[in-house]
Amino acid sequence: MTHDGEYRSKLIKLLNDQARAELEASTIYSRWVRKAPGPEERLHLAEIAHEETEHWYGTIKVLEGLKVTPQEAKDYAGRSWFYTVSHVLIPRYRWVDILMLTFLIDRGAFLLVEDFARSSYAPWARFAKRVLEEEVGHMDFGNDFVRAQVDKLGSKKVQPALNKWWRVALNMFGPPTTRHTEQYIRLGLKYRSNEERRQAFLLSCEKQIKEMALQVPELYRQTYPFI
Ligand SMILES: [Fe+2]
Ligand SMILES: [Fe+2]
Repeated sequence: MTHDGEYRSKLIKLLNDQARAELEASTIYSRWVRKAPGPEERLHLAEIAHEETEHWYGTIKVLEGLKVTPQEAKDYAGRSWFYTVSHVLIPRYRWVDILMLTFLIDRGAFLLVEDFARSSYAPWARFAKRVLEEEVGHMDFGNDFVRAQVDKLGSKKVQPALNKWWRVALNMFGPPTTRHTEQYIRLGLKYRSNEERRQAFLLSCEKQIKEMALQVPELYRQTYPFI
């Protein structure tokens, strides 16, 4: 397959978005290593921070393989509404927010990287498969430590953070389909629509939420954007 024109531009756009998400994760988790409440938490969080940094680094290396210059990368940078919205909803992070980030947002990341692991661009598919293995560990950390937090503080104290992050998480997938969806699927750069990924997310975490003695949050608005 030739990597020019439409294919190249869509590929670069997705890689750029991914690099940005990994860098954001690397920054947030790194910042929290020294604030982790205990030795276990600190150790795991330092690992996660390191792995997110590797995910970012690996993604920019795939971009480099496409001979994308930093200037070209900038031109592809999309709107950053997701980061704006999440910063508005959660202006100041507490430890429980970091736990929700691993529990929900890393799960969303996993589902997106699942698509990239089947990418028609082989270098990315190879790298994404490695990323997937590590993202499982990030979700496991979320599962274990949210549960521990519920045991320690009670579900009433933990539920409000879940309510906030639930909205961030559902919106993370974007509108059900976009004008690019069909194109991405046709080019083999993704294999599911945003809505299919969101449904997979719901399937993957609703049961766990109930098992943790938390409740699946109720929404005020049932369609995208969820509030
Ligand atoms: Fe990652
Ligand atoms: Fe992660």
